[in-house]
Amino acid sequence: MKKILITGGAGFIGSHVVRRFVKNYANYHIFNLDALTYAGNLENIADIEKSSNYTFIKGDIVNADFINQLFEKHQFDGVIHLAAESHVDRSITDPLAFVKTNVIGTMNLLNAAKTIWTNDANDKRFYHVSTDEVYGSLGATGLFTETTPYDPNSPYSASKASSDHFVRAYGETYGLPYVITNCSNNYGPNHFPEKLIPLFINNIINNKALPVYGDGKYTRDWLYVIDHAIAIDLVFHNGKNHETYNIGGFNEWQNIDLVRLLCRQMDGKLGREAGESEKLITHVKDRPGHDLRYAIDASKINKELGWKPSVTFEEGLNQTIDWFLANEEWLKNVTSGEYSKYYEKQYS
Ligand code: NAD
Ligand code: TYD
Repeated sequence: MKKILITGGAGFIGSHVVRRFVKNYANYHIFNLDALTYAGNLENIADIEKSSNYTFIKGDIVNADFINQLFEKHQFDGVIHLAAESHVDRSITDPLAFVKTNVIGTMNLLNAAKTIWTNDANDKRFYHVSTDEVYGSLGATGLFTETTPYDPNSPYSASKASSDHFVRAYGETYGLPYVITNCSNNYGPNHFPEKLIPLFINNIINNKALPVYGDGKYTRDWLYVIDHAIAIDLVFHNGKNHETYNIGGFNEWQNIDLVRLLCRQMDGKLGREAGESEKLITHVKDRPGHDLRYAIDASKINKELGWKPSVTFEEGLNQTIDWFLANEEWLKNVTSGEYSKYYEKQYS
């Protein structure tokens, strides 16, 4: 039985990846390593926690001794690395936290993998899950390809770019077998309500203001999280060693248009009059260094691995809103305590 380490599996995307691997691969034992920061929530994967091919480990990837001992003990065959500080706004107020987890934490995993995989690295794989934000900002036209030069603008994207470079450098220098994917903005169930879509769903439910940064003309390319998990499965198994793949939704939206669509769908579901939720929109001070536009050319993963998004944005958004409405308890739990203190500090 192969032993696969998934990091960050209690978070948003990681929870969908862990669920998929535990359910689909009885021949793997999945180890989910997560520090359970404010963004990690074991409720996200409660349905699979008793599976015989699954083990949860609470631990911090920044702790090198702990990581080395873990790799020595379990001799993992593969790593899918998602653990990260993931929110741009937090990276602006506390950049060092992003260097610690995203750069040092990734380095610790790379060093540990390199140490245990010296002899027969051919059947091993270090999969680094990254973001399209490493490419910087697009103007009104064009798409990010795998050869677009890195040009990160936020402390978050700079830390992800740095970790991507280290992964590639370990491949070149030490022959570490790796793949990297750079994915566009995800949305879906388990999304922490600090990011645009879940924050606004939560605020609409609670009749709170919807803080649109600047003029709202910023553009993102949205992908349903389950389609990202499917892509990760494909790349982990069939992607070429030492290659990068871009993953995107073919689905660009200006923030303000997306928010209006969300408001319309929520009005319908909450039985409100048409236009009621839109009244909550407030334009607030812009995010410093705000990237104008992200958009992915996902033709490489499409041609080589046959991947494309399986749901339209309207379907995915509809399912996402339904999930949040059916899981108001989850929303209440994650918006209490530490998170609510942070939220008040940012927005009150
Ligand atoms: P998230 O913030 O929801 O979850 C991150 C998880 O990592 C949490 O469970 C947290 O507890 C854990 N974690 C944080 N620091 C840790 C540490 N030091 N040690 C161990 N665990 C730690 O993030 P997400 O949105 O699910 O993103 C997952 C990965 O995908 C990240 O690497 C992110 O850069 C990348 N990504 C995210 C998006 C997106 O739209 N959310 C898009 C592309 C790529
Ligand atoms: P976010 O979900 O934080 O993702 P990212 O910054 O990684 O793309 O933000 C998505 C877009 O929405 C981005 O242009 C910033 C904007 N935004 C707001 O206008 N208001 C908000 O409260 C948040 C969280 C984001």
